[in-house]
Amino acid sequence: MSVFPRISLKPDVTEYLKSVFLNKEVLAAVGQQEAECRFQKLLTCLSHPPSYTCVRASTHLAALEEIRRQLGEELKKQQMCSSSPEDLQILPHPRITDVLLLPVDGPRPVQQLSSEVVVGAQCGSAVLRGAHVFAPGILGSPKYMKTGDMVSVFSDLEGRCTRGATSFQGKKVFLGNGVAEMDRSTIFCTGEPPRGIGVRMVAPLYQSPSFDGVLPSLAFLQNLPSVVVGHVLGPRPGERILDMCAAPGGKTCHIAALMGDQGEVVALDRIRNKIDRIRQNAQMLRLQSIKAFCFNSTQAVSSDPAQQTEGPPFLPDSFDRVLLDAPCSGLGQRPNMATTWSLKEICSYQPLQRKLFHTAVQLLKKGGVLVYSTCTVTLAENEEQVAWALDTFPCLTLQPQEPHIGAEGMLGAGLSPEQLRLLQRFSPELSWDQTQTTTAFPGRADSDTIGFFIAKFLKN
Ligand SMILES: C[S@@+](CC[C@H](N)C(=O)[O-])C[C@H]1O[C@@H](n2cnc3c(N)ncnc32)[C@H](O)[C@@H]1O
Repeated sequence: MSVFPRISLKPDVTEYLKSVFLNKEVLAAVGQQEAECRFQKLLTCLSHPPSYTCVRASTHLAALEEIRRQLGEELKKQQMCSSSPEDLQILPHPRITDVLLLPVDGPRPVQQLSSEVVVGAQCGSAVLRGAHVFAPGILGSPKYMKTGDMVSVFSDLEGRCTRGATSFQGKKVFLGNGVAEMDRSTIFCTGEPPRGIGVRMVAPLYQSPSFDGVLPSLAFLQNLPSVVVGHVLGPRPGERILDMCAAPGGKTCHIAALMGDQGEVVALDRIRNKIDRIRQNAQMLRLQSIKAFCFNSTQAVSSDPAQQTEGPPFLPDSFDRVLLDAPCSGLGQRPNMATTWSLKEICSYQPLQRKLFHTAVQLLKKGGVLVYSTCTVTLAENEEQVAWALDTFPCLTLQPQEPHIGAEGMLGAGLSPEQLRLLQRFSPELSWDQTQTTTAFPGRADSDTIGFFIAKFLKN
């Protein structure tokens, strides 16, 4: 059921996306009405959270059933503290051996209160996926808010609420009710950035367990398509693998886990403080085969064998598999109620992705596998990149993906039906209203995902 307005985008961004989803090839295949309907559903589902939470289980440390049991026990403890305990369902994914799924309960009927706390959009999205409100995310609160007060939490849709506001009349959406864990003065007036939980959600609009501190080495929150990427890459023990855009390291850690921590996973990211996140995640998941470096991956190829060190740049043909989980416009993320990005920003990623692709192909051994993925829905960053890559690198061929639980590639980039079938596009708009009502859980978990794209190539 839809409770939020469609995602709010700049008008020229909406027009651009519409031209993508109503391109000539799509119109010829499904007709104007169906194409228009899919586009409207896309805008609606993007502002809503998926209807389940996906947990990647550390099956390199314990059996799935054991992790499921421990998770059940931990979450039961949490629910005993919550005001409305639900029957806890933790279901293994029918095809993916290291995934547990938990249905999200929502939207639930929750009565709004007169005391309002306003949070930023990013914090709001986290709350819709089961998080409590962390103090740095709070923008506004009642003037005399004290620890223990019941408050309604709203997300500021347009980024207009100023920090420290006592009331806010701009566009906002209701996320549920919680109990303040801090006085207003602690949040805004101590001079130091506030830390910890500011509002503990007790009656969220969408209820799913909070995973904060729950089985940190065994249960890792990750969107289902991101888990699929690791399996599609197909790493094997003993291999040398490059993750070119790795931070915060969710996929890096999955790759290392799939290799049983045997071999080497080189993780690069150009942002220095994000490298610490990769290392922290590797440590938390007890993985030792990961080596993380701060580096611009567009410059990761070296031509000088004499200068070889453990880290980048690397000689050509150095890796058995390469993951290019590319920086992208991120338009598939859910929930996302609004993006203020300009059309120029949205369109800025294609050239960078191509530069990274050049590096990826050079660093991959012959016979090696390259996986390209994004969390966006445009053709320019997905199918058009595949068409360009097949044209630019005759050594590359598209490969079938296992598992393939998403839809096939989208029409519009001139790819053949056979090529489109080899691509995996997670397209929540294709089943948006069915997923909400008719499709049984966990089946709907495969379609009610973030928007995501995966292509797998072999270097011949
Ligand atoms: C989609 S995110 C990666 C998410 C990550 N693979 C995961 O699963 O946790 C893209 C990352 O690319 C990094 N990035 C952007 N440009 C880069 C470049 N030229 N070289 C290396 N990393 C880059 C960004 O800092 C960002 O962390």
